[in-house]
Amino acid sequence: MNKKIAVLPGDGIGPEVTAQSLKVLYAISAKFNHSFTFEEALVGAVAIDATGNPYPAETHEICSNADAILFGAIGHPKYDNDPSAKVRPEQGLLAMRKALGLFANIRPVKHYDILTDASPLKADRIKGSDLVVYRELTGGIYFGQPRGRSEDGLTAFDSSVYHKFEIVRVAKLAFEAAMQRRKKLTMVDKANVLATSRLWRETVTELAKNYPEVEYDCMFVDNAAMQLIQNPAYFDVILTENMFGDIITDEASVITGSMGMLPSASVGGECALYEPIHGSYPQAAGKNIANPFASILSAAMMLETSFGMLDEANAIRIAVEKCMNAGFVTSDINNGKLGTEEVGDKVAAFIAEG
Ligand code: IPM
Ligand code: MG
Repeated sequence: MNKKIAVLPGDGIGPEVTAQSLKVLYAISAKFNHSFTFEEALVGAVAIDATGNPYPAETHEICSNADAILFGAIGHPKYDNDPSAKVRPEQGLLAMRKALGLFANIRPVKHYDILTDASPLKADRIKGSDLVVYRELTGGIYFGQPRGRSEDGLTAFDSSVYHKFEIVRVAKLAFEAAMQRRKKLTMVDKANVLATSRLWRETVTELAKNYPEVEYDCMFVDNAAMQLIQNPAYFDVILTENMFGDIITDEASVITGSMGMLPSASVGGECALYEPIHGSYPQAAGKNIANPFASILSAAMMLETSFGMLDEANAIRIAVEKCMNAGFVTSDINNGKLGTEEVGDKVAAFIAEG
């Protein structure tokens, strides 16, 4: 197959980890006889530096014409410490999600036995955890209007707004995923306090009737935050709104043992975007120490979800597991001794010989 992939390395460790995914994709194309064309584009702080815009029109053009997007990370400390900055790298990611219609963010969280000791949670708690979060990505408090500051600057406000159709479309994807998995779906909200959450609960509970095989329950987000670390194996598919999903997916990542392991997909539009969930990790940028597995596993999700290349995706996953079993890992995992580049080389080599 011929596929065009937009590559947006972005900021911080984004370029280093994305480079490993490209190596791995080259190994896949050689092994399985595919032809991948990569088109690189700017996003985030690097795009602001070059053009003043964190999501330039050229980048949107390249993304719109691609079959899938591989994204690195976004963010820079110079903006984090400057609340008055008018343009921020994160706006690039939000603009991209909105412009490309990526309304659902899929974040699988799987426990690897070999990482049991790397997790701060007790082994008996995390054993057998295998869940996926479906996070709504283009609505809620991230985008709602009005938002801003009062004229005297002493008051700030953000609005959380949800329309029924926004809830239905992501909920359908989550129920369909549950049907392919262990047929259990937990909807996470704050319906005891928020009007938007009550609309979520009403809408999703109604929709659940179309999926009688799926065991469906609702949980308040504060309780869900606790259950996630107390009994993560309870969950199969979690469905939630934008902000709650942002928070609980970072929390859920500790189950794995390293945030550097978690891939994600953002879908809904014509072209889906794949990215590691770890962010730009500026302290590690340029040091060849970042774990590339999350990006590499995101590339695997891309092959499977966007291109239907199941064998190819599994070849990547198997190569990653082989690396972990052989101790070919970065220092965040079991005191690994390899650098980012070397781990990428090992994964590519396992694919070539596998
Ligand atoms: C994420 C990130 C983003 C978000 C930031 C970088 C805007 O935390 O993808 O989870 O809040 O959605
Ligand atoms: Mg986040």
